[in-house]
Amino acid sequence: MVNIDYRTLGPSGLVVSTVGLGCNNFGRAGTATETQEGTDAVIGAAIDAGVTLFDTADIYGKERGLSETLMGKALEGKRDTIVLATKFGMDMAGVNGPDWGVRGSRRYIRLAVEGSLRRLRTDWIDLYQLHQPDPVTPIEETLETLDDLIAEGKIRYIGHSNLSGWQIAEAEFTAQLHGHPKFISAQNEYSLLARDADREVLPAVNRYGLGFLPYFPLYNGLFTGKFSREGGPADSRIMSARRYLLDSAPWDRIERYQAFCDERGVSMLAATFAWLLAQPGLTSVIAGATKPEQIVANAEAASAWTPTAGDLAEIAAIFPSPS
Ligand SMILES: NC(=O)c1ccc[n+]([C@@H]2O[C@H](COP(=O)([O-])OP(=O)(O)OC[C@H]3O[C@@H](n4cnc5c(N)ncnc54)[C@H](OP(=O)(O)O)[C@@H]3O)[C@@H](O)[C@H]2O)c1
Repeated sequence: MVNIDYRTLGPSGLVVSTVGLGCNNFGRAGTATETQEGTDAVIGAAIDAGVTLFDTADIYGKERGLSETLMGKALEGKRDTIVLATKFGMDMAGVNGPDWGVRGSRRYIRLAVEGSLRRLRTDWIDLYQLHQPDPVTPIEETLETLDDLIAEGKIRYIGHSNLSGWQIAEAEFTAQLHGHPKFISAQNEYSLLARDADREVLPAVNRYGLGFLPYFPLYNGLFTGKFSREGGPADSRIMSARRYLLDSAPWDRIERYQAFCDERGVSMLAATFAWLLAQPGLTSVIAGATKPEQIVANAEAASAWTPTAGDLAEIAAIFPSPS
């Protein structure tokens, strides 16, 4: 067991580890977690380390639904000890049944939740997240359906993902107006190099007291310290599939950041977790892992270094916010 902190997720009684596990590697082609064995190893290591929050989605995996299917098996006998988050609302290409492009609708959500429960081999989902806005269905219909699912015990809490600031405010007030349970969390891209959420999303998240779950928190692994401007491990996602992230990265600033870490004797991984967990409203860093040692390293990194206000100001000067 590693020394991990736990925080409540937004205005709720749901307590999660500040190091979560992003689960979009499970069933991903070309990774060690493509298989059941690889998935079992990472999930087992995460639970042993004290990680409780597992974030997946119905769409993850080389075939839609595969991440959930592999997780359902890996979590047999362990389900009660973790907080299981999944998502609906991306194009499942018919795997959940026809959706006619309205995946926040009453009809579709019913299909989606049954598909996720079946694949995950569970009776309930702890955090059920709208993966992206549905531009057609009124948010009132989505909230009413999710309210019913909470009442039926199929889901416990609701969150959203990829909403803009005004959409977060609209959802908040619609829930208030109609007396529905509110979304407790927002999930949007956020890292040292992806700061759009600073403009509208994080102000809304903090105004309404939501929990914030940053996706791509390590910028697909770039902030693990294993890359340089020349390259990195051949089996990494960045080198095998997203080389453009390396080529377009601002290496002068990343090297300044590495020097900042070296001066303090802290790893880039630990500094990055510390910076993320110091951001107001940010509840848990849901970084993905393709190997058991990665999730253990992440769990250890989160408590390895406590930055001063001056340290955080220096990091902010290296990676300024666009807001
Ligand atoms: N809501 C949305 O629309 C949305 C979109 C994307 C992601 N997400 C969620 O966010 C989660 C996190 O995103 P992500 O996993 O794609 O990106 P990430 O957390 O920025 O990067 C994770 C990758 O970095 C590498 N890594 C992690 N820890 C490491 C360590 N200690 N040492 C060395 N390498 C390490 C691994 O890749 P390699 O081994 O391949 O290098 C891992 O897959 C996802 O799993 C998913 O749950 C949500």
